[in-house]
This record gives sequence, structure tokens and C-alpha cells, in this order.
Amino acid sequence: MSTLVTGGAGYIGSHVVRLLQERGERVVVVDDLSSGYAERIGDAALVQVDISKDEALRILTETMIDYDVDAVIHFAAQKQVGVSVQRPSLYYRQNVGGMANLLRAMYDSGVRDIVFSSSAAVYGQPTVDLVPEDAPTEPINPYGQTKLIGEQMLADCTRAWNLNYIALRYFNAAGAGWNDLADTYTLNLIPIALEVLAQGGEPVVFGDDYPTPDGTCVRDYVHVLDLAKAHLVALDALRDKSVVNRAFNVGTGRGSSVFEVLDALREASDWDFGQEIGPRREGDPATLVADCSSIELALGWKAELGLPQIVESAWTARQAGASPITVLKD
Ligand code: UFG
Repeated sequence: MSTLVTGGAGYIGSHVVRLLQERGERVVVVDDLSSGYAERIGDAALVQVDISKDEALRILTETMIDYDVDAVIHFAAQKQVGVSVQRPSLYYRQNVGGMANLLRAMYDSGVRDIVFSSSAAVYGQPTVDLVPEDAPTEPINPYGQTKLIGEQMLADCTRAWNLNYIALRYFNAAGAGWNDLADTYTLNLIPIALEVLAQGGEPVVFGDDYPTPDGTCVRDYVHVLDLAKAHLVALDALRDKSVVNRAFNVGTGRGSSVFEVLDALREASDWDFGQEIGPRREGDPATLVADCSSIELALGWKAELGLPQIVESAWTARQAGASPITVLKD
């Protein structure tokens, strides 16, 4: 028996792979290594394929049979909101097309359990401060749309052939569980700030005139290790059929502003660096914080780490220099 992790060489996926390995599970990773690193997956088997390609259906099916796979955790996807707006067809092909191949391979090989990496992006611009799972799902970009379609595909397969799924809607994943698994892409606030500081610059705050306590955007930052643990709890629930066919928010239920994140970074680094105030970034909701009561009630999962640990772990990993840095613009 083994668990197949698509995108297992990526930032969040590799944390899940390591936790699975730590508890003695056999893991097979499917990853095209377009943004992941083979070094991250330890002794897990690696099948290098882009799941959206035609040949992927055969390769995925064979992999599930050859490795006696009983469950899938599906991360492999494109995740840059800005690029998704410019290149929607790429996002639909990769995220929706790739998932269609994966689900077909599961059907063909008799695998019925899947944990899906969804996103708070399915909510778009919610009007409530604490977003519950039954809030309207109205994505405002193709990235969020592909995640919502992914959830709908799961529900359709449940009706058609008894697929069991749990979709996890991530809020702002950040930090590092291990230095060598840190987020290496400068796409989000904390990695961007770390890179700007390393280059001798000052982090730029995208707007300080939002209707929030300090005027900067508020987000729900969840430590990647906590987030990774949510996947294992979800996997266990699928395997024993205690909870199936649900979508859960994964956050902390606590919001932090951009100013608070930068202050936490000053604390962690013991460095009183400056900051610039820039214009607002298009499409940013003022506040996006998860109502996390459902996942706690259903799966007993609750985030254990807070903003200080998130920022400290990201800072420490960056100082350790264990991960290559890839500078990309969203
Ligand atoms: N920000 C800055 N300066 C920067 C970078 C970001 O002020 O240099 C601000 C943003 O405006 C935002 C906050 O920091 O207010 C967090 O921004 P991120 O880009 O780190 O994260 P987002 O909340 O925009 O997006 C995250 C994920 C997306 C996902 C979305 C869903 O990165 O993949 O949450 O809510 F779609």
C-alpha cells in the first residue's frame, strides 16, 4: 500500500511527503519538477511527468497499479494568480486537464480516496471577515476558478463512481517545517520580503488605506507544517471513511496585517529594517481570514503555530541557505 502525492517535490507537497515518511508510509511522488526539487522527497519513488500531458493518463494508471496506491494527495498545479489572468488556457489545461487525467487514472486503477489542494481563492472577494465553507464561491480569477472546478469534478466523480474526497481550501501558507523545504519562490509576501532585504532593499507594502485596523491588508497566515498535518488527518479520515466528500478551510482563524507580518520579521531577524508604502495591488481583498471551526469539529485539526513561528522559520531557513531562491514575478 502506498500514497501517491502529485506535486510532492513542491513547497507544500514536500512537507506532506516528509510527514508521511516520518510515520513510515510508502510514498510515490508524481512531479514534473517544473518548480519542485527531487532532493526534497528523500527516498520516495519519483515519477517525472506533467499530469496534463496525453501520456500522463497511462503513466498515472500504471504508477497506481505498480506501487499498489490506495490514496492520492493532489498538489500538482499552477498557482500564480496574475499569470492565470494573462494565460487562462494554460491554467485550465494544467489544473483542470491534469486533474481530469488523474481522476481517470484513479477510476481505471480502482483508487478511490483523494485529498485535494484547493484554495481560499474559490471565495473571491468575500464580504464577511471570517469566511465559512458555505460562503458563496465566486472566484475572481482563473486560478480560483480552476480550484473551484476541481472541487466540482470531485463531487461529480463521487456521484458517478463513489470517489471519496476531502478538499482543503488553503489560506496563506507560509514558513518552513524544515530548512531545506522552504518556499523558494518569491511570489508571496514573506519570501518576497526576505529576498528584497537580502538584496539590500526595503519591502513594499501594497497599500495602507484599506478599511482594516492599521490600513494594510489582513490575511490568515498558516504555518506550512500545520497545513501539511491537515493533509494527513484528512487522509486518515478518508481511509477509515469517518469523513468524506467535504471541503474544509485550512487557516488559523486569526488575521495578520502586512504591517504585523513585517514587524514579526523585524522581531525574528533582530533587524529594524525600513519599509516603503506602495499603491494597492489590483484584486486584493482588504481582509481574508478563515472560519476554521468545521475542520476542527470534523477532523480534530487545529493550527498550533502562529505568526511568530511562521516568520521565524522562514527567516531561519533563509539564513541556512538550504533552498535555492527563484525570483519570479506574479
Ligand atoms: N503584499 C505586500 N507586499 C508584497 C507582497 C504582498 O504588501 O511585496 C501584501 C498583499 O497585498 C496581500 C498580502 O501581502 O495583502 C499577502 O499577499 P500574498 O501575495 O502573499 O498572498 P495573497 O493573499 O494575495 O494570495 C494567497 C495565495 C494565492 C491564493 C490567495 C487566496 O498566494 O495563491 O491567497 O486567498 F489565491
